[in-house]
Amino acid sequence: MKKYTLLLVVVLFAEIVKGQQTQLMLKTMENIVVETKDLSLVLTVEENKDVNMVYLGKKLQDPNEYRQLNGQYKQGHDYTNMYQSAYTASGTRNLLEPAISVEHADGNQALDLKFVGQELKTIDNNRKELIIKLKDELYPFHVELHYLSNFQENVIEQWAVIKHNEKKNVKLIKYASANINLKGEDYYLRSYHGDWIAEMQREDEKLTHGIKTLDSKLGTRTNLFRSSYFALGLNNRITENQGTVLLGGLEWSGNFRVDFEKDPQDNLRIMAGVNNYASHYSLAAGTAFVTPKFSFTVSTNGLGEGSRNLHDWARKQRLIDGYGERYTLLNNWESTYFNFDEQKISHLLDNTKKLGVDLFLLDDGWFGNKYPRNADTSALGDWEENKSKLPNGLLSIVKEANKKDVKFGIWVEPEMVSPKSELYEKKPQWVVKQPKRDEYYFRNQLVLDLSNPEVQDFVFNILDNLFQKNPGLAYIKWDCNAVIYNAYSYFQKDQNNFYVDYTKGLYRVLDRFREKYPTVPMMLCSGGGGRIDYGSLQYFTEYWPSDNTDPFDRIFMQYENSLFFPSIASVNHVTTFGKQDLKFKIDVAMMGKMGFDLNLEELSADELSFAQQAVKTYDQYKHIIWHGDLFRLADPRKDNHASLAYVSKDKSQALMLNYLVQYSQVSSTSAPIQWLGLDPNKKYKIQEINLHGTNSWIPSELILSGDFLMKVGLNPILNNNRKSVILALKAIN
Ligand code: DGJ
Repeated sequence: MKKYTLLLVVVLFAEIVKGQQTQLMLKTMENIVVETKDLSLVLTVEENKDVNMVYLGKKLQDPNEYRQLNGQYKQGHDYTNMYQSAYTASGTRNLLEPAISVEHADGNQALDLKFVGQELKTIDNNRKELIIKLKDELYPFHVELHYLSNFQENVIEQWAVIKHNEKKNVKLIKYASANINLKGEDYYLRSYHGDWIAEMQREDEKLTHGIKTLDSKLGTRTNLFRSSYFALGLNNRITENQGTVLLGGLEWSGNFRVDFEKDPQDNLRIMAGVNNYASHYSLAAGTAFVTPKFSFTVSTNGLGEGSRNLHDWARKQRLIDGYGERYTLLNNWESTYFNFDEQKISHLLDNTKKLGVDLFLLDDGWFGNKYPRNADTSALGDWEENKSKLPNGLLSIVKEANKKDVKFGIWVEPEMVSPKSELYEKKPQWVVKQPKRDEYYFRNQLVLDLSNPEVQDFVFNILDNLFQKNPGLAYIKWDCNAVIYNAYSYFQKDQNNFYVDYTKGLYRVLDRFREKYPTVPMMLCSGGGGRIDYGSLQYFTEYWPSDNTDPFDRIFMQYENSLFFPSIASVNHVTTFGKQDLKFKIDVAMMGKMGFDLNLEELSADELSFAQQAVKTYDQYKHIIWHGDLFRLADPRKDNHASLAYVSKDKSQALMLNYLVQYSQVSSTSAPIQWLGLDPNKKYKIQEINLHGTNSWIPSELILSGDFLMKVGLNPILNNNRKSVILALKAIN
């Protein structure tokens, strides 16, 4: 017995050595480096044509030294050289969570992708796109890995293009956009869960071995319970200004799935892509499946720098008119709900002018005749003006608005249908629902099947008709309130393609819309913040973070959104929600694009004149908030206050927004808050703005250097009598 045991041990040992030797002897044939200003992502092509991702981090000074990387990171036994795969295929040698998994036309499920070539495209003087070409050795099955680097902004966009020439359709069982490998010991994830009126609830955790998944299966309104955006601290807990942190998310408004797998060697593998839940996509030969982009940045100086990277990139590459202007507005949703008529609207147009904002936005309730939209139970799909509310049509209101020198915008929810609507009666097969089962409603409505090109035309025409019939229409709020229950498409041959084709159909409509109306400002809304991602934001100028407009809750949501999305895109309305005074509400709304949704008649004369003045003040400073750099100075979850600074790109102007978040007789800011991002050599004149009735506690004519403000700081003197304080800095030299 003993002899056999010994023999077994010897054989096993020999196998292990052989395995290790195979691994150690595998030579890296080529390094391929994706570089930005401060980062590099290094891929290697191994002797056996595997492509691995071996590094993501600070760029090296000497590119030749990337060759030394691989030897440094062999931490243990990588049985088949797959742990670092740049796009992990399943069914052959892989033991970990795959990035891609397929069923070939012949039913075989094995895939092994080998390097067959690369291409580097220069897009402009800031952007390059690297394409790594992979192919299975046995099947005519190809994958391209795309890495688009935004040099100045340190942002990398990553996606895959999947193609084949097999005899029949291939089933894509899993098809991630990115497979990122990080070397480290400990990984700290910050992710976001939520619900209606409770969006962007942050959660921090240390990742353990195994898999943590962030996902959504809601079909539409996919961020209702969770965002695909996250921050990941490498080796250290996430902090604002120190440590390595990756920030990113999937540019996709459909179901998503992000897997974090801490592997047996303690490395972290991130697989981000479309959720393959009920979506084993059937791909025809010769057709390219382009995955959505996973866009991310890595900062070695904490979250703050990472956010500024994403903000700069988003304003330049994603948002419509990212460095442009925005309309301040008065919305009628919370002041009238469905209860309005021409006379009321006319009055609201006067109020828009009186308040001094740019635009009046008419919300839900203006349409439907057979089934009037007087509640959220009917009429979605029937996009004609309701004759009793608007007997003279929208055009007369647009004209009246223009006469009164205010712009006019309108709410639509074009993807949806009410069971009580003419559209539902006429086109039941356009509706997403199971043929023989009970219908389930979310907010009393159903979703139209945007995977069907006829429905895409219908949705495009809703918007196009509005613009054609109402010249002068200046703004759209695009809402999306329902999730998908009973996912079934009458159009699809293979139901597996429905969820993906829905989202692609939505983007097709938005593409068409933007081709015809490239710059019309449009708000992205999804029953609050149910759809905030850069896949959708590329078509919009701004987004609605939440139906929760209590300024206290908004501080937290707006703060968390600011990690990923620039303030120019955050629509913040002053409403009657919350017990705080008007000044506090306005100060909180200033953390983005300010608007109002209240009855001016409910304000006292003093409040009205303060609001009018605040709009003028905001007009004076809004460009710093919209186009400047954001520095988060105090975290409301850690301190008794939130503090944010916006600094103009030339550092000549800045704003500091401070909010007390713990109210008691004794809570105050007892120490100075240190600034960031100023010019140490400039002297800044400091002035408190948005004062309502009281004198400032900040000495007038206070002048301090950037050096002082960044080393010592400035106490905004928040306390129970001064719950919010806005300070404006202007360089005088
Ligand atoms: C949900 C949105 O978030 C609200 O702002 C409002 O537009 C309603 N829908 C209208 O139904």
